[in-house]
Amino acid sequence: MQVCETKLDIFALQTGYRKNGLKIGLVPTMGFLHDGHMELVRQARAACDRVIVTIFVNPTQFGVNEDLSSYPRDLERDIAMLNAEGVDAVFTPSLQEMYVPGSETIIEATRLSRILIGRLRPGHFRGVTTIVAKLFNICQPDRAYFGEKDYQQLQVIKRMVRDLDIPVEICGVPTVRETDGLAMSSRNAMLGSKERQAAVILSQALIAAEEFCLTNRVSAQKLSQIIRDKIETEPLADIRSIDIRDAVTLAPIRGTLNAPAAALLAVGFGDVLLIDQKTLHAKLSVQQ
Ligand code: PAF
Repeated sequence: MQVCETKLDIFALQTGYRKNGLKIGLVPTMGFLHDGHMELVRQARAACDRVIVTIFVNPTQFGVNEDLSSYPRDLERDIAMLNAEGVDAVFTPSLQEMYVPGSETIIEATRLSRILIGRLRPGHFRGVTTIVAKLFNICQPDRAYFGEKDYQQLQVIKRMVRDLDIPVEICGVPTVRETDGLAMSSRNAMLGSKERQAAVILSQALIAAEEFCLTNRVSAQKLSQIIRDKIETEPLADIRSIDIRDAVTLAPIRGTLNAPAAALLAVGFGDVLLIDQKTLHAKLSVQQ
């Protein structure tokens, strides 16, 4: 596995792949890898000839009061995990490598980036789309893999690629969960043991909504209430938002569900803000 720290090195590598007609799969990450990331890698390996993983904790997607400095990092362990999974190349640029002095250009999906989590974390998705566009330009993948857990991020990136005619196929990968149902996330490592136990309430609340959908025609408001009632049984949970939105546009849903919807949760446990999501299908069938 090649480890590249400079844009020049990874660019040369991907150019070589492309000259040989090899299809490139890209998995952008901020490191501290877990099985959720590994599932993205496995899917990329299954569909592409070469897999590039990027590890970069991107400061422009963190707000001033957010947890950039405490974001967990373990590059050595990450590299060992990727090597074991048969990844071809890892790009681990420094801050200076990714943002040359005087960088001022941004990319933003102006509506999708400012709703939901974008309201709680102003500027967050602008940072994401800007760095992801840069990574696409540097690595020039045929396909790029993102987890459905970060559901809004996935929709924002799909929208950017569509709007800017970026020639990359965006592949969403279903959320990977711990055995007790907690969605895998690098942030889970920042939870205290009581908060870690409490956080399981998120997947339980989503399952309660899913089960209700299986047997009832239901409104977005009712689903939202079912989820809230369940989460409120957990005293350590600090609900920041519960949204039932159109699964593609993320627009609010009025009345009864009659198209796929996304249930999107943002809930604090101690200092850690967790998100989770489930896609709910109208009427009688429901899928993750
Ligand atoms: O999902 C993440 O880890 C990050 O937002 C991403 C897509 C790697 C951009 O920094």
